[in-house]
Amino acid sequence: MTKQEIIERLNYLRATELFAIQQYMNHHYRVKGMDFSDIRDIERSIALVEMKHAEMLAERINMLGGNPITNPAQVSQLKTSQVNTSEDSRGMLMADLELERGAIRDYTKAIQDIGDGDPGIRKMLEDILIQEEEHADTFGTWLGEKQAYAIGELKGAA
Ligand SMILES: [Fe+2]
Ligand SMILES: [Fe+2]
Repeated sequence: MTKQEIIERLNYLRATELFAIQQYMNHHYRVKGMDFSDIRDIERSIALVEMKHAEMLAERINMLGGNPITNPAQVSQLKTSQVNTSEDSRGMLMADLELERGAIRDYTKAIQDIGDGDPGIRKMLEDILIQEEEHADTFGTWLGEKQAYAIGELKGAA
């Protein structure tokens, strides 16, 4: 990948992080019902981790001489543009798990594309990927899914 392609990819990943922050904080404020306090805390704590990811990506983009995006809408390749606004906690968690599965696919692909070209960036992406897998597992556990993500299914995904 060229330096410009790496900057663009990191900005795409940053857009997915900013989008996830919006969705999780929205869920944090709006969740109601039986599991209210637990799910509210989980949404908030995962949103804070995504903020850290967005910041790590911005620092690297700066180091490469690029401009970190400030709004996910600046990235046209984003698959979704509207945060999930489910009224029930199950709907929220399903939408959140989908985001995390998308993040796992996106980071896996970015790691493959960078290859050995930039070990520092690769290490950062790998560290983030591990946390996205944990997030998928957390949301999946709440939904009662035995295996929230299966790497075999994700292989070769875009
Ligand atoms: Fe993230
Ligand atoms: Fe995540």
